[in-house]
Amino acid sequence: MCGIIGYTGKKNIAQELVVGLEKLEYRGYDSAGIAYCEHGKLVAVKAVGRISELKKLTEVSRPDSACGIGHTRWATHGRPTLVNCHPHLSYGGKFAIVHNGIIENCKQLRAFCESRGVSPVSDTDSELIAHLLELCFDGDLRRAADKVAEMLKGSFAVGVLCSCRPNEIYAFSSRSPLVIGEGKNFCALASDGNALSGVDTLVFLKDGESALLRPSGAEYYRKGKRVNPPAAPFSSASALSVKDGFAHYMLKEMYEQPEAAARTVAALSDVRLRGALTFIGCGSSYHAGLSVLPLAEHVLRKPSYACLAGEFICSERVKRRGTTAVLLSQSGETADTVAAALEAERRACRTFAIVNVPSSTLTRVCKRHAVTRAGPEIAVATTKGFTSQVIAVAAMLTRGQTADSVKRLPFAMEKALAAAETQEAEEAARLLAISPDVFFIGRKADYGVALEGALKLKEITYINALGISSGELKHGSISLISDGTPVVVVHTDPSLREKTLLTISSVRARGGFVIGITDDSDVCAASDLAVRIPHCDPFLSPAVSVLPLQSIAYRAAVLLGRDVDKPRNLAKSVTVE
Ligand code: G6P
Repeated sequence: MCGIIGYTGKKNIAQELVVGLEKLEYRGYDSAGIAYCEHGKLVAVKAVGRISELKKLTEVSRPDSACGIGHTRWATHGRPTLVNCHPHLSYGGKFAIVHNGIIENCKQLRAFCESRGVSPVSDTDSELIAHLLELCFDGDLRRAADKVAEMLKGSFAVGVLCSCRPNEIYAFSSRSPLVIGEGKNFCALASDGNALSGVDTLVFLKDGESALLRPSGAEYYRKGKRVNPPAAPFSSASALSVKDGFAHYMLKEMYEQPEAAARTVAALSDVRLRGALTFIGCGSSYHAGLSVLPLAEHVLRKPSYACLAGEFICSERVKRRGTTAVLLSQSGETADTVAAALEAERRACRTFAIVNVPSSTLTRVCKRHAVTRAGPEIAVATTKGFTSQVIAVAAMLTRGQTADSVKRLPFAMEKALAAAETQEAEEAARLLAISPDVFFIGRKADYGVALEGALKLKEITYINALGISSGELKHGSISLISDGTPVVVVHTDPSLREKTLLTISSVRARGGFVIGITDDSDVCAASDLAVRIPHCDPFLSPAVSVLPLQSIAYRAAVLLGRDVDKPRNLAKSVTVE
C-alpha cells in the first residue's frame, strides 16, 4: 500500500528519500517518485515500476534545498502510469503533495476544481489535494491546509511542499497512519517509523492533527491551535532486516518461524485471553483466527467466532457486552481491521489487538494489545506473521500440559521445515506449478490451514486455488475434480481419520491427485503423494502443518519465475477499506 517519506534538514535529499522509499517497498507499490525544491521551483521525479528505476533517475540529483517528500504508489484510482504517480504538483506549481488513503468525495472535488478552471491531469483522487491547496492559498500554508483537510472525506495522510517555504513540510492526516520523527537538525515524516533513519523520537499524528516540519523541529496543531502530542523514543530494534544470503525474504522468513514462535511464546505466556472470543482479521490473519477457533472453544468452553474484518463492520453479529473482539493483524495497519476495531468499540465489546508491529494503529485503537515477536516481515506473503499469531493465541489461552505443548511447538516447526525440504514436497510443487486449479481441504483446525495454503499459492504463483472445508467438498465443488486435479489434504486430527479417508477416496474415485500433509500413516498411505509432518496436539497443529504449504507455494512460485517477495497487485499493508 502507498508509502510516504519526507525529510527536511538532510543533505543529499534525493538519495535520502530514495533510501526511505526502499524501506517502504515491503508495503507493495507499482510506481514511485520524489519532489524537492530547486532554485525556488518544485521538481518531481517519478518512475513506474521498481524503485531501482527511480534510483537511476535521481543518482546525480543535487538540489540546493535539503527538504523533500517521496511516495510509493499502489494503484487504486487509475493505472500505474507516470501521470498518476506521486508527488503531484498543483496547477500553478506552488505545491507538491504525496497522499496515502482514499478520498471518497473525489468526484465532487474534481467538479469543484473544474468549476474554478483547473483541469486535473491524472486519474487520481490525490492530485486534487494539490490543486485545492493552491486554490485555497492566501499566503498562509497552514490555513490553506486546514481548509483543504475540511473539504476531504475519507482517509488521508498527506505531506505537502510549498515553493514559497522550500525548507518546510506540512503534514496532516485522518484515518491513515503518519508518523513524524525528529533527529539532530532534521525532521522527517513517514507512513512507518521503520523507514526513517537517524531519528531520536517519533510522534504518531492523530486523526485531525497536523504538523509543520522544519530542520529545527516540528510544531503540532489541532483545529488551528498548537498542541504537544507525546513523543516516543525511536527503537533501533525495529530497523528493517536484510536477506542474509537467502534468495528471497519469504524463504528467510519461513526459516525464522521456529525462533519467532519461541520468542512469542516467551513474551506472551503470562498474558490471558478470556471470555467469548470473536477473532477478526483479513487474509492470512483471518485464517489464523479460524485456525485457533477450535482451541479457543475447547479451552474456554464458550462459543467463539472468526469473522472477516470487512464483514464484521457490516454485520450485526456481535452486540453483546462481554465479548472480546480479538483483532489479528501482522501490520496493525490494515484499514478493514482498524475499522472493525472501531466498530467493536462502538458495540461495547472488549477489544484486544494482536499485532506484529509495535506502536501500529491497532495498538492505539484497541483497549488491550499483545505484540508477536516475529520481527520485521518484508515479503508481502506472510509466513512468520501467520504462525506467530497462531502461537500467540495458543500461548495466551493455555495452561499446564497444553501450555508445555505450546512451548514445544518451535521444535515441531523445525522438523516440519525439514519435511518441507523432502523430495515429496518438491514433487508436489512441480505438480502444482503446472496445474490450472488446485484444491486445499481440511477440517476443524486444519480448515484455516487449508484456506491459508490456498491463499499462499494464489498470492505468489497466481494459480487458481480454492481452500474449502473437507466436509463441504461434496456439496458442489467436487464437480470440478477430474483426472489429475491436485487436492491438497491437510489432516492432523486423529478423531477425523475415518472422515478424511472417505473424502480422499471420493476425490481419487474422480481422478483427483491427493497430496497429503499429515502425521497419520493411514492418510499417508491413502494419498498419491504425502509430506509427513511431526505429530503434535491437533489443536496446536496449524503452526506446524502450514509450513510445508508455505514451502510448496514458494517452490512453485520460483519454478514459475514469479516475483516472490512482491507479487503483482498485492500490498503488504492495505491501508484503504
Ligand atoms: C494484505 C496482504 C495479505 C495479508 C492481509 C492482512 O491483503 O496481501 O497477505 O494477509 O493484508 O494483513 P495484516 O497486516 O492485517 O495481517
